[in-house]
Amino acid sequence: MGGSSRGEFSSSFGFIMAAAGSAIGLGNIWGFPTQTAQNGGAAFVLLYLILAFVVGYPILLAEFTIGRHSQSNPVGAYQSIKGGKRFAPVGFLGITTVGFILSFYSIIAGTMMAYFLNPILKLVGLHQAAAWVISQGVSSNILFASLFFFITVLIVAAGVKNGIEKWSTRLMPTLLLILILLTIYVLTLDGAMEGLKVYLLPDFTKVFHTQLFTSALGQAFFSLSLGVGSMLVLASYTSKKENLVRLGRLVTLSDVGIAFLAGLLIIPAMYAASASGAEIFDEAGNLISGPNLIFQVLPALFDTMGPIGIGLAIIFFFLMVIAALTSTISMLEVPVSYAVDNRGMDRTKASILIGGIFWIVSMVIALNFDLLFDFVVATTTEFIQPLLGLFICVFVGWVMNRNTLIEEIKQGNPDVENSFFMKIWPLFIRYVSPILILIILAQAFL
Ligand code: PHE
Repeated sequence: MGGSSRGEFSSSFGFIMAAAGSAIGLGNIWGFPTQTAQNGGAAFVLLYLILAFVVGYPILLAEFTIGRHSQSNPVGAYQSIKGGKRFAPVGFLGITTVGFILSFYSIIAGTMMAYFLNPILKLVGLHQAAAWVISQGVSSNILFASLFFFITVLIVAAGVKNGIEKWSTRLMPTLLLILILLTIYVLTLDGAMEGLKVYLLPDFTKVFHTQLFTSALGQAFFSLSLGVGSMLVLASYTSKKENLVRLGRLVTLSDVGIAFLAGLLIIPAMYAASASGAEIFDEAGNLISGPNLIFQVLPALFDTMGPIGIGLAIIFFFLMVIAALTSTISMLEVPVSYAVDNRGMDRTKASILIGGIFWIVSMVIALNFDLLFDFVVATTTEFIQPLLGLFICVFVGWVMNRNTLIEEIKQGNPDVENSFFMKIWPLFIRYVSPILILIILAQAFL
């Protein structure tokens, strides 16, 4: 295990883009606005922001530290660190869970691909095909999810430098730019201000609603790629010269920032659509939501923009496909790195085999979408990811040798020992984050 054969990022920028690329994806632009709509707006936003910083960031740093220290995958990491053997099953649970996440994620990512192709097919006059690709029927879902798996496997098989880094260092800034432009445009539309209020002014009568906490915590874990080992594995490929604290902060801020921006776009866009006659509330008077929300809102928005809208739609959905890819790569990489490090498997074989297994899972979900999709999303992101995070807190906060931990964080950040960060991070990892996770998980069951 370890050593140069594992591959390493060739630059600091490569690692930051890969970690940010893992974090930024459907979780931000599909998951966050949908959850915000489902949970009534600003109260959810506020809770999510708090949990991302108070629970997410400390755990992200814990994963970075274990990953770089062990230079291994989640299972190998626990096995190689003193006191960690008993935690190996936690590593396995992470590896399996991330596979299930990949399985549902590819379906939505496939839909992004379909919405990218739709305007192109229309432009070349293939109207029937254009309508079919976005029909989201079983066959189109299967086609696009499979395509997505295929590309992910190809990139992961190519390895860290050629695969992950190359893709991750591009295009993300463009996504940010388009989001900002779209948001500015939406905020000028009639009705948008109403949406802005719903997005930013919390209705505190809704805060003490059980599902709200579970959803916000799950969203924080999902969006920051936590618990399942993606961040751990990415950090295992980074050099000892990196300042993990700074990188963790950058990743958290960019991930949370993009999610916030996506909400700022989608929620006001819903109200703008409502001002021009679209129905945005269900019978119970709640905002419509569900996995299809952004596919209803965004294309309608692009339509209002005329020819520019067509171009923007193509670019936007293209970037979404890339953003999703940089996330799925970091998912498949987790079990693949285990197979390569611990089982001595060839990287290409491991990518195909493991990709194949979860492709089958994905097909099962696609074939039973109404029955399985929401269930798999909620189980993996709202329960297992936080549970895995809890174990990480216990391991790093209570089991792992403190000097080993500090020595690792000090690499690339020699002055960290006396910093404000080092005074509070251990408190968060030992008490604040695990206790919050425990309370939220417990209240979900009671
Ligand atoms: N964070 C990714 C997103 O927001 C999803 C993800 C979850 C990636 C778990 C890796 C591991 O789209």
